[in-house]
Formats: sequence, C-alpha cells, structure tokens
Amino acid sequence: TYVVTDNCIKCKYTDCVEVCPVDCFHEGPNFLVIDPEECIDCTLCEPECPAEAIYSEDDLPPEMDHFLELNAELAKQWPLLTEKKDPPPDAEDWNGVPNKYQYLER
Ligand code: SF4
Ligand code: F3S
Repeated sequence: TYVVTDNCIKCKYTDCVEVCPVDCFHEGPNFLVIDPEECIDCTLCEPECPAEAIYSEDDLPPEMDHFLELNAELAKQWPLLTEKKDPPPDAEDWNGVPNKYQYLER
C-alpha cells in the first residue's frame, strides 16, 4: 500500500485524489489517508503530491512508521474524497514544517 505521511497535515493539496484509479483517499479535517484495503500500488499518487507526503510502505522512512497504522485506522472513520478541492488558505506556510503530527485533527 501507499501511505500519506506528516507533511500532508495542514497542507492537504488533494492533487492525489485526482489520479487514484480506485478511490483510496479518505478526508479528515486537515489530513488525508489512503485505505490500504483499496490501494492497488499503482504508484500514480506519489509524484502528484506537492508536499511529497506520499510513500510506498516499502520506502517509508523509519520516523514515519506510525503513519502506516494511522492511515488504516482513519480510512475506516473518514469519508471518501474523490475530487480535488481547494487546499487550506495557509497550506503554503505549512509545507515543509517538521513534526506536524501534533496538529492532526480527528
Ligand atoms: Fe491510489 Fe495508486 Fe496511490 Fe494506491 S498508489 S492510493 S491505488 S493512486
Ligand atoms: Fe495530502 Fe499531498 Fe494529497 S498534501 S492531500 S497527500 S496531494
């Protein structure tokens, strides 16, 4: 599966949802996650993310390990998102800020 990680938080550009052929993405207040039960490892979303927040689980940096379980958990709770929408107005200010997990809203 592919995994959405820290730098999506508060950026949420949603370019990723447009390219996913199987509707994997679920939306929370300030973060998106991939449903591992739907992802077919097509690789298309990874280069689309302007925040470079998407990784294959095989390439997940060790400090992002916990996002694997988090994507699976939140995908069960959050609604599907299948169309791109406007990012938060301050998305650019947050792109690249480290350790945004503390700001995750559920
Ligand atoms: Fe969707 Fe493909 Fe990304 Fe998996 S790798 S979430 S199937 S676009
Ligand atoms: Fe998040 Fe990147 Fe998609 S910032 S919403 S994973 S395009």
